[in-house]
Amino acid sequence: MDSTELDALETQLNSCHDCPLRDGCQSPVGWFGNPHSPIMFVGEGPGGVEDDYGCPLIGPSGQLLDKALWSTNMTRDLVLTTNVVKCRPKGNRTPTIEEGRFCAERWLDKEIEIIKPKVIVALGSVALHYLGKPDDKITRTRGTWFKTKQGIDCIATFHPSYLLRLAGHDQVTAKWHVFYDLEKARAKVLESLPDYKFCSDKPLNLFELFKKRS
Ligand code: URA
Repeated sequence: MDSTELDALETQLNSCHDCPLRDGCQSPVGWFGNPHSPIMFVGEGPGGVEDDYGCPLIGPSGQLLDKALWSTNMTRDLVLTTNVVKCRPKGNRTPTIEEGRFCAERWLDKEIEIIKPKVIVALGSVALHYLGKPDDKITRTRGTWFKTKQGIDCIATFHPSYLLRLAGHDQVTAKWHVFYDLEKARAKVLESLPDYKFCSDKPLNLFELFKKRS
Protein backbone atom coordinates (compact mmCIF):
# COMPACT_ATOMS: atom_id res chain seq x y z
CA MET A 1 0.00 0.00 0.00
CA ASP A 2 1.43 3.34 -1.05
CA SER A 3 0.31 5.89 1.54
CA THR A 4 1.41 8.83 -0.63
CA GLU A 5 -0.99 7.66 -3.31
CA LEU A 6 -3.79 7.26 -0.77
CA ASP A 7 -3.14 10.73 0.68
CA ALA A 8 -3.19 12.19 -2.83
CA LEU A 9 -6.47 10.43 -3.52
CA GLU A 10 -7.96 11.90 -0.35
CA THR A 11 -6.90 15.41 -1.35
CA GLN A 12 -8.51 14.94 -4.77
CA LEU A 13 -11.66 13.51 -3.20
CA ASN A 14 -12.01 16.50 -0.89
CA SER A 15 -12.17 18.85 -3.85
CA CYS A 16 -14.47 16.69 -5.99
CA HIS A 17 -17.47 18.52 -7.46
CA ASP A 18 -18.07 16.08 -10.29
CA CYS A 19 -21.70 15.24 -9.55
CA PRO A 20 -24.82 16.91 -8.10
CA LEU A 21 -24.63 14.95 -4.82
CA ARG A 22 -21.83 17.27 -3.75
CA ASP A 23 -24.18 20.29 -3.64
CA GLY A 24 -26.45 18.62 -1.09
CA CYS A 25 -23.81 17.71 1.50
CA GLN A 26 -21.19 19.46 3.60
CA SER A 27 -18.29 17.65 2.01
CA PRO A 28 -17.25 14.21 0.76
CA VAL A 29 -16.63 11.51 3.35
CA GLY A 30 -13.73 9.20 2.53
CA TRP A 31 -12.45 6.08 4.26
CA PHE A 32 -11.33 5.32 7.80
CA GLY A 33 -9.12 2.76 9.49
CA ASN A 34 -5.91 0.94 8.74
CA PRO A 35 -4.91 1.53 5.12
CA HIS A 36 -2.76 -1.62 5.38
CA SER A 37 -5.78 -3.66 6.39
CA PRO A 38 -6.37 -6.83 4.41
CA ILE A 39 -10.12 -6.44 4.95
CA MET A 40 -12.28 -3.62 3.63
CA PHE A 41 -15.91 -2.99 4.60
CA VAL A 42 -17.92 -1.12 1.98
CA GLY A 43 -21.15 0.60 3.00
CA GLU A 44 -23.63 2.57 0.94
CA GLY A 45 -22.90 6.23 1.51
CA PRO A 46 -22.68 8.77 4.31
CA GLY A 47 -25.77 9.65 6.31
CA GLY A 48 -26.37 12.81 8.31
CA VAL A 49 -24.03 11.98 11.19
CA GLU A 50 -21.25 10.94 8.79
CA ASP A 51 -21.69 14.21 6.89
CA ASP A 52 -21.47 16.12 10.18
CA TYR A 53 -18.33 14.35 11.40
CA GLY A 54 -16.55 13.52 8.13
CA CYS A 55 -16.14 9.87 9.04
CA PRO A 56 -17.78 6.86 7.38
CA LEU A 57 -20.08 4.69 9.46
CA ILE A 58 -19.90 6.75 12.66
CA GLY A 59 -23.67 7.19 13.17
CA PRO A 60 -26.21 4.59 14.36
CA SER A 61 -25.30 2.09 11.61
CA GLY A 62 -21.63 2.48 12.35
CA GLN A 63 -22.17 2.00 16.08
CA LEU A 64 -23.94 -1.28 15.35
CA LEU A 65 -21.21 -2.28 12.90
CA ASP A 66 -18.64 -1.66 15.64
CA LYS A 67 -20.53 -4.02 17.97
CA ALA A 68 -20.70 -6.68 15.26
CA LEU A 69 -16.97 -6.26 14.59
CA TRP A 70 -16.16 -6.49 18.30
CA SER A 71 -18.20 -9.69 18.56
CA THR A 72 -15.94 -11.20 15.89
CA ASN A 73 -12.71 -9.81 17.37
CA MET A 74 -12.26 -6.88 15.05
CA THR A 75 -11.97 -3.18 15.80
CA ARG A 76 -12.40 -0.23 13.47
CA ASP A 77 -8.79 0.99 13.79
CA LEU A 78 -7.45 -2.29 12.39
CA VAL A 79 -9.83 -2.72 9.48
CA LEU A 80 -10.77 -0.29 6.71
CA THR A 81 -14.26 1.13 6.29
CA THR A 82 -15.51 3.08 3.32
CA ASN A 83 -18.58 3.62 1.11
CA VAL A 84 -19.76 3.29 -2.48
CA VAL A 85 -20.74 6.96 -2.64
CA LYS A 86 -18.82 9.66 -0.82
CA CYS A 87 -21.42 12.42 -0.58
CA ARG A 88 -24.61 12.18 1.43
CA PRO A 89 -27.63 11.99 -0.86
CA LYS A 90 -30.08 14.72 0.19
CA GLY A 91 -32.66 13.45 2.68
CA ASN A 92 -30.55 10.33 3.30
CA ARG A 93 -32.13 8.57 0.34
CA THR A 94 -30.50 5.48 -1.15
CA PRO A 95 -28.13 6.44 -3.98
CA THR A 96 -29.21 5.28 -7.43
CA ILE A 97 -27.20 2.66 -9.35
CA GLU A 98 -25.94 5.43 -11.66
CA GLU A 99 -24.87 7.65 -8.77
CA GLY A 100 -23.11 4.71 -7.17
CA ARG A 101 -21.28 3.81 -10.36
CA PHE A 102 -20.32 7.40 -11.17
CA CYS A 103 -18.81 7.95 -7.72
CA ALA A 104 -17.28 4.53 -7.14
CA GLU A 105 -15.49 4.44 -10.48
CA ARG A 106 -13.78 7.68 -9.45
CA TRP A 107 -12.99 6.86 -5.81
CA LEU A 108 -13.81 3.42 -4.45
CA ASP A 109 -12.13 1.62 -7.36
CA LYS A 110 -8.97 3.65 -6.76
CA GLU A 111 -9.05 2.94 -3.02
CA ILE A 112 -9.29 -0.76 -3.81
CA GLU A 113 -6.43 -0.47 -6.30
CA ILE A 114 -4.17 1.28 -3.76
CA ILE A 115 -5.15 -0.63 -0.60
CA LYS A 116 -5.35 -4.02 -2.31
CA PRO A 117 -7.42 -5.75 0.39
CA LYS A 118 -7.51 -9.54 0.44
CA VAL A 119 -11.20 -9.56 1.31
CA ILE A 120 -14.04 -7.10 0.81
CA VAL A 121 -17.25 -7.19 2.83
CA ALA A 122 -20.17 -5.54 1.02
CA LEU A 123 -22.56 -4.05 3.58
CA GLY A 124 -26.00 -4.15 2.01
CA SER A 125 -27.33 -4.22 -1.50
CA VAL A 126 -25.88 -0.95 -2.87
CA ALA A 127 -22.37 -2.30 -2.22
CA LEU A 128 -23.31 -5.81 -3.37
CA HIS A 129 -24.68 -4.46 -6.65
CA TYR A 130 -21.71 -2.22 -7.34
CA LEU A 131 -19.06 -4.73 -6.35
CA GLY A 132 -20.15 -7.42 -8.75
CA LYS A 133 -23.69 -8.73 -8.35
CA PRO A 134 -25.94 -6.06 -9.89
CA ASP A 135 -28.97 -8.31 -10.16
CA ASP A 136 -28.74 -10.23 -6.91
CA LYS A 137 -30.85 -9.84 -3.82
CA ILE A 138 -28.91 -9.43 -0.59
CA THR A 139 -31.21 -11.93 1.12
CA ARG A 140 -30.11 -14.63 -1.36
CA THR A 141 -26.47 -13.74 -1.92
CA ARG A 142 -25.27 -12.75 1.54
CA GLY A 143 -22.82 -15.19 3.02
CA THR A 144 -21.59 -16.46 -0.36
CA TRP A 145 -18.28 -15.62 -2.03
CA PHE A 146 -17.82 -13.93 -5.37
CA LYS A 147 -14.97 -12.05 -7.02
CA THR A 148 -15.01 -8.31 -7.65
CA LYS A 149 -13.88 -7.03 -11.04
CA GLN A 150 -10.41 -6.60 -9.49
CA GLY A 151 -10.41 -10.33 -8.66
CA ILE A 152 -10.80 -9.77 -4.90
CA ASP A 153 -12.79 -12.19 -2.74
CA CYS A 154 -15.99 -10.48 -1.68
CA ILE A 155 -18.80 -11.51 0.65
CA ALA A 156 -21.97 -9.53 1.26
CA THR A 157 -23.85 -9.22 4.49
CA PHE A 158 -26.82 -7.22 5.71
CA HIS A 159 -26.31 -3.49 6.13
CA PRO A 160 -26.48 -2.46 9.80
CA SER A 161 -29.30 -0.01 9.01
CA TYR A 162 -31.39 -2.98 7.86
CA LEU A 163 -30.75 -4.69 11.20
CA LEU A 164 -31.83 -1.51 12.98
CA ARG A 165 -35.14 -1.52 11.10
CA LEU A 166 -35.92 -5.10 12.12
CA ALA A 167 -37.35 -6.14 15.46
CA GLY A 168 -37.73 -9.20 17.65
CA HIS A 169 -36.94 -12.62 16.25
CA ASP A 170 -36.22 -11.28 12.74
CA GLN A 171 -33.60 -8.94 14.10
CA VAL A 172 -31.94 -11.64 16.18
CA THR A 173 -31.81 -14.02 13.20
CA ALA A 174 -30.39 -11.35 10.89
CA LYS A 175 -27.76 -10.40 13.48
CA TRP A 176 -26.61 -14.02 13.67
CA HIS A 177 -26.32 -14.08 9.86
CA VAL A 178 -24.10 -11.01 10.03
CA PHE A 179 -22.02 -12.60 12.78
CA TYR A 180 -21.37 -15.72 10.70
CA ASP A 181 -20.66 -13.67 7.54
CA LEU A 182 -18.08 -11.60 9.41
CA GLU A 183 -16.52 -14.76 10.86
CA LYS A 184 -16.23 -16.15 7.32
CA ALA A 185 -14.61 -12.98 6.08
CA ARG A 186 -12.12 -12.97 8.94
CA ALA A 187 -11.30 -16.63 8.40
CA LYS A 188 -10.68 -16.01 4.69
CA VAL A 189 -8.12 -13.30 5.51
CA LEU A 190 -6.39 -15.64 7.96
CA GLU A 191 -5.94 -18.24 5.19
CA SER A 192 -3.37 -16.00 3.55
CA LEU A 193 -2.34 -13.84 6.54
CA PRO A 194 -2.49 -16.11 9.60
CA ASP A 195 -0.86 -13.51 11.87
CA TYR A 196 -3.02 -10.51 11.05
CA LYS A 197 -4.19 -8.76 14.21
CA PHE A 198 -7.74 -7.51 13.69
CA CYS A 199 -8.48 -6.35 17.20
CA SER A 200 -7.28 -3.72 19.65
CA ASP A 201 -7.75 -3.96 23.41
CA LYS A 202 -11.01 -2.04 23.29
CA PRO A 203 -13.43 -0.78 20.64
CA LEU A 204 -12.55 2.61 19.21
CA ASN A 205 -14.73 5.58 20.17
CA LEU A 206 -14.89 7.43 16.87
CA PHE A 207 -16.47 10.45 18.54
CA GLU A 208 -13.20 10.97 20.44
CA LEU A 209 -11.35 11.19 17.13
CA PHE A 210 -13.78 13.18 14.99
CA LYS A 211 -15.33 16.51 15.89
CA LYS A 212 -18.53 17.87 14.42
CA ARG A 213 -17.65 20.02 11.41
CA SER A 214 -20.59 22.43 11.40
N1 URA B 1 -24.50 4.00 6.01
C1 URA B 1 -23.49 3.66 5.19
O1 URA B 1 -23.62 2.77 4.37
N2 URA B 1 -22.35 4.30 5.31
C2 URA B 1 -22.16 5.28 6.17
O2 URA B 1 -21.06 5.84 6.22
C3 URA B 1 -23.23 5.60 7.04
C4 URA B 1 -24.39 4.96 6.95
